[in-house]
Amino acid sequence: MLILVLGKGKTGSLVAEVARERGHGVRALDITENQRASALTAPNLAGVDVVIDFTAPEAAVENMRAVLALGGRIVVGTTGWYAHLEEMRSKAQKGGALLYGTNFSIGVQKLFRLTAELARLEGYTFSIGETHHVSKLDAPSGTAITLRQIVEAAQPGAKVEITSHRVGDAKGEHTVTAAGPDDVLELRHNILSRRGLALGAVRAAEWLANKSGAYDFREIFDQL
Ligand SMILES: NC(=O)c1ccc[n+]([C@@H]2O[C@H](COP(=O)([O-])OP(=O)(O)OC[C@H]3O[C@@H](n4cnc5c(N)ncnc54)[C@H](O)[C@@H]3O)[C@@H](O)[C@H]2O)c1
Repeated sequence: MLILVLGKGKTGSLVAEVARERGHGVRALDITENQRASALTAPNLAGVDVVIDFTAPEAAVENMRAVLALGGRIVVGTTGWYAHLEEMRSKAQKGGALLYGTNFSIGVQKLFRLTAELARLEGYTFSIGETHHVSKLDAPSGTAITLRQIVEAAQPGAKVEITSHRVGDAKGEHTVTAAGPDDVLELRHNILSRRGLALGAVRAAEWLANKSGAYDFREIFDQL
């Protein structure tokens, strides 16, 4: 497979490395080579099976518009662009394919499932904590927002507070707490290496290679 990775930052560079290790051809572009999606033309995308985006919120929206308009397939790991989610999903229904996820770690997908189970508890107050590196652009994290949606789906009307911390090079920690009058339950996931995220994104690209339409990683991760 030929994969085009957008973003050569902390995550994109690891995605390119993992994709090469898995035997794929890889091209990678950073902001200077793809200002306002300028590199995403039909000739440049010819032969590319899947584009993987780990850039920044605005850039990801421009990249999705360009790739989907050409009928291409794109995996989006970038977070913070979800105000445009419906627009992007509907573009993907008309041509090409889109797979997006707030977190490509299989461990975090398990945390989502466990949170849905925890959130069925009655009589508890739920809260979420997240810690990331200081250069992360969005707060709360996309993963924390997903966790809140999961709790709120099980506890209609509940107010779930999210506390965000930005510390050094922290790779990503999320905690879901259920506090009751007699005890406290806590689910915690801490990323030790970004490799797990990169591997999840490459496996998602392999899965998307023969699909069309729009998919949330949460719905498909156990098919990988
Ligand atoms: N979904 C997940 O599992 C997951 C995991 C890690 C990071 N993220 C998200 O991915 C995004 C990137 O994170 P990071 O830590 O790698 O950031 P980073 O700042 O280290 O890297 C981003 C890179 O994208 C480049 N870039 C910006 N605009 C571009 C464009 N138009 N074309 C090509 N490259 C462009 C920047 O120059 C930079 O090198 C963030 O939104 C982050 O929240 C998601």
